[in-house]
Amino acid sequence: MTDLRPRRAQASASSQRRRTLVVAIAVGAVLIAAAIVAVLALTPTTQVAAPNPTPTQTRSPSATPSPTPTPTPTPTFDRAALSIDDPASFWVVANKLRPLNPPQYEPAVVSVPVDFANEPFLRQEASDAVVQMFAAFTAETGLFMQSQSAYRSYWAQESVYAGWVSSLGQEGADLTSARPGHSEHQTGLAIDVSALPANCSLDQCFADTPQGQWLAASGWQYGFIVRYPNGYTQITGYEFEPWHMRFVGVELATELHTTGVLTLEEFFGLPPAPTYG
Ligand code: DAL
Ligand code: ZN
Repeated sequence: MTDLRPRRAQASASSQRRRTLVVAIAVGAVLIAAAIVAVLALTPTTQVAAPNPTPTQTRSPSATPSPTPTPTPTPTFDRAALSIDDPASFWVVANKLRPLNPPQYEPAVVSVPVDFANEPFLRQEASDAVVQMFAAFTAETGLFMQSQSAYRSYWAQESVYAGWVSSLGQEGADLTSARPGHSEHQTGLAIDVSALPANCSLDQCFADTPQGQWLAASGWQYGFIVRYPNGYTQITGYEFEPWHMRFVGVELATELHTTGVLTLEEFFGLPPAPTYG
């Protein structure tokens, strides 16, 4: 139909329609944007989380947060890398059910250049580790420790064990001292550590001394473990000996520390050895 209005009136009407159209488009765009924002705000955050969640995202929401990271075993740790049967192996496990083979095994040992109550001898690697460990303790604390007893031959252990039987009887002696052919001291990989000046030597109160506390917390960094921990007599066969440090090498000591496994018997899946059977 022909528009009979004057040209100026027609132009004004056309301009009015364009403004209306622009306003409508703007309002529509605002509404769409608002809708997108609303959808994103209501979407649970887990749906936009990374595709590979970290282990902490799998924890139960009710779990109490730990102040330190949960230790995890090294996935590549090879528990069969070294022998647990060879008395020359850093991983040898000697206990009441596992005599040294041969029982009169004699390692090559060296004099350990540290302070001592009785001159200490150990396998070279264990000696080097003791030197580093004692030096680190002194550097950190300004205090000192010493070797109380280290390598003992089969015959020295025979004499030590006989002394304990004399004072405690056989049952008491067997909770304190290995019989000859069963002692870690015979491998040249074990050392009894005491404070210098002496304080609680070969006594369970050594655990409360700065030296005993430090050894329990830091010995693993030098390849040592507290071999007879508190409360594990039914597994190790011996009462708590916070002074008896066994060299197993830094790799295994670190793995034991990381996993929180306290005994070699448990780590290697060996039967508990509370008695000689
Ligand atoms: N005191 C430890 C068990 C030993 O005699 O080897
Ligand atoms: Zn010992």
